[in-house]
Amino acid sequence: MIKDTLHLRAPGNWINDPNGFIYYKGKYHLFYQHFPYAPMWGTMHWGHAVSEDMIHWEHEKIALFPSKEYDRNGVFSGSALDVDGKLYLYYSAIQYLRQDPENIHQSLGDSYLTSQAMLVSEDGEHFDNWDSKSQIIPVIADCAFGDAKDTRDPKVWKEGRDYYMILGSTWYKEQGRVLFYTSKDARNWKYRNQYRTQGMGSIMECPDLFCVEGQYLFVGSPMEIINDGLEYSAHAICATADFNRKNCELKLSDNYQYIDYGLDFYAPQTTLDSEGRRVIIGWMRMPRAVEESRDGRGVWNGMMSIPRLVEIGIGHVYFPVHPSVDGYFTKEVTEAWESGQYSCPGERPCRIKARLQEGQSLDIGGYRIWMEMGAVKTDRSRVFDNIENHRLTAETPQVGGDCRLDIFVDVNLIEIFVNNGEYVVSHVVYGLGDSVSGEIDGIFAGDEI
Ligand code: FRU
Repeated sequence: MIKDTLHLRAPGNWINDPNGFIYYKGKYHLFYQHFPYAPMWGTMHWGHAVSEDMIHWEHEKIALFPSKEYDRNGVFSGSALDVDGKLYLYYSAIQYLRQDPENIHQSLGDSYLTSQAMLVSEDGEHFDNWDSKSQIIPVIADCAFGDAKDTRDPKVWKEGRDYYMILGSTWYKEQGRVLFYTSKDARNWKYRNQYRTQGMGSIMECPDLFCVEGQYLFVGSPMEIINDGLEYSAHAICATADFNRKNCELKLSDNYQYIDYGLDFYAPQTTLDSEGRRVIIGWMRMPRAVEESRDGRGVWNGMMSIPRLVEIGIGHVYFPVHPSVDGYFTKEVTEAWESGQYSCPGERPCRIKARLQEGQSLDIGGYRIWMEMGAVKTDRSRVFDNIENHRLTAETPQVGGDCRLDIFVDVNLIEIFVNNGEYVVSHVVYGLGDSVSGEIDGIFAGDEI
């Protein structure tokens, strides 16, 4: 069985979005978009991993795979709900109009139909892909009301006595929109309302809507919102929202925030943790696959961020590190690191705490962090294998002249939490060196060191 610590990575071949993230019967379940045959995107399955703490993950067997005519070309993203002890999994079912004769895992000319479907699992361990699936929302026939192709990623939740579903979609002017459905029994769904907006990309992928301390928050991944010709043009955002449960009317605040100011975090999903706190995990997009020789997973592409909390401050949403991550980095190794007995970055993840002032900088194995004009800036150009057409530098909005950094360094990923989650900057990296320079307050290692 393949295991991961801190960052859930593809168990081999390809993964993208987190799906069906839920704390269910005493364990966290994280499903994910998975192509099990090659390290590239293709016919989607739901891979499955479980954990007691969102730090130590064990990959299980593939949970969902194409088995019906309506999902024969892919089980796209979706969510999970505990309904009377059963695990309900909601997903988008893909049927290609024509498949590429040279690669049947892609459609020809981007032509496919999408409906919404579900699978009911009795226990979160067994997934009957033949007898427990059903199509719950057919392909949308009227384009004024929804798109037959790009309506997807059901996120389902319960509020009061009713079940709600938000779906991402597009509309004829190629602007994002979301659709709402409700249900009394979590199986039969009725269309209720929709929200359209300008300036939020061409398709709204993986929408999520939830309440934190009485305030609704919307999370979504709009396509084509950054148009500088470099990867990636799609980026995850969040905005405070007004949501009227009676008629499913949504209003988003005009200003939205990036969930992560780095360049790779995408299609996140939230759930409630064992203590009822809102937790978010996102997919870290990787332009190049990596070969892992130690645990038999072989070539892999795609991983998840560390779990983060979602918290509301005044006029701002914070994404601090989830406490389970604190529970993992319990060993201070600053002295061992200073005397050369411990190396960070090394083969295992480490945590670096530092303060940064205007004009100061840090170098972590070739990855540069500095403060300029009151913003935290980063540059990965020396640790990105000369991969072309991707952005290399990123920066936060203004944070003032002095800030605290909490930096999580893994072999292929650096996540920087500025001022306890006021801003987060995460980057995929390749070929980090093993030296750290700059002023550091402490280095911490994981609990198995
Ligand atoms: C987002 C996304 C979803 C879709 C899935 C397909 O990355 O495009 O909208 O369901 O990935 O793998």
